[in-house]
Amino acid sequence: MKKARGDCPQKRTTKAVSFKYSNKKNPLKPTPANLKAGKELYQKKAKPMACKLCHGKYGDGRGPGGAGVSPAPRNFTCAATMKDISDGQIFGVIKEGSKGTAMPAFKNLKDREVWQLVHYIRDLGN
Ligand code: HEC
Repeated sequence: MKKARGDCPQKRTTKAVSFKYSNKKNPLKPTPANLKAGKELYQKKAKPMACKLCHGKYGDGRGPGGAGVSPAPRNFTCAATMKDISDGQIFGVIKEGSKGTAMPAFKNLKDREVWQLVHYIRDLGN
């Protein structure tokens, strides 16, 4: 496991997503093709904004768009915080956002794209 960048463990107060998301399991395998697709969305293609704007190029939560926002963007490189977050929770937060925070809902991403992002985010901490 790589050494975490940024604040770790990171304080987390995010609410649990609804059961229709929280019980989901990632149907995709973390193949090179799925990781690559997740990376492209994260670093560049996701609309209205790429994830890296807030979560940072390295996933450490230190992107320029996240500077000064409270709560801070999640640090995906921090295993101590990420280990308690299920795939279904990650899926739901990407779909619906985190209410009352800067984390937007990405309504236009297909389920398959969200699962590719879940694999990429998990990979950032490895
Ligand atoms: C405008 C800034 C911004 C952008 C863009 C953004 N996020 Fe976030 N994200 C946040 C903030 C702030 C939080 C912390 C929310 C909280 O504490 O509840 C967060 C939290 C998260 C979490 C943690 C959920 C949890 O339960 O702890 C995940 C996963 C996540 N974002 C994924 C993404 C992905 C994937 C993208 C791109 C498709 C993205 N974010 C784009 C700001 C952003």
